[in-house]
Amino acid sequence: MPKKSDYMISRRGFVGGVVGLVGTVISAVVGLPVIGYVVSPALKKGAEEEWITLGPVSALEPGIPAPFTFSQMKEVGWRRARISQTVYAVTDGSGNVTVFSDACTHLSCKVHWEEGRGAFICPCHDGLFDTEGKVVSGPPPKPLYSFQTQIENDQLMILVEG
Ligand code: FES
Repeated sequence: MPKKSDYMISRRGFVGGVVGLVGTVISAVVGLPVIGYVVSPALKKGAEEEWITLGPVSALEPGIPAPFTFSQMKEVGWRRARISQTVYAVTDGSGNVTVFSDACTHLSCKVHWEEGRGAFICPCHDGLFDTEGKVVSGPPPKPLYSFQTQIENDQLMILVEG
């Protein structure tokens, strides 16, 4: 009578092994992209900052915010696109210039300067900000974001994320 080899496995053991192997392959095929999607933002290099030139400071009237528009390439979802942004620069007349984002701090609607009311108005829920970007009324929880600025040869620049 032939001796049963030490390497023989039962049919049940073989089927169990194949099912386990197929399950592992399917889990890897489905799971690795999901893990990559979740982990990839953490592995991305931090957004680099760049100085954007807005225009001449001498053109600003003290106490009256002036809009400046610039565009830059940004990652939007999975692609890079040219995005236009508007900011408001205001000077106090003694060399201090503040540049505000036009994004409302409530739900990011675009604010605009209304000369008659002397305030930045958010049209979405009537948020009001003063010339220093502070909340006057409405639901915005904090002041308008102000950019880091520098002035070179009368040119106003702001530091933005690239
Ligand atoms: S988004 Fe500006 S007040 Fe709500």
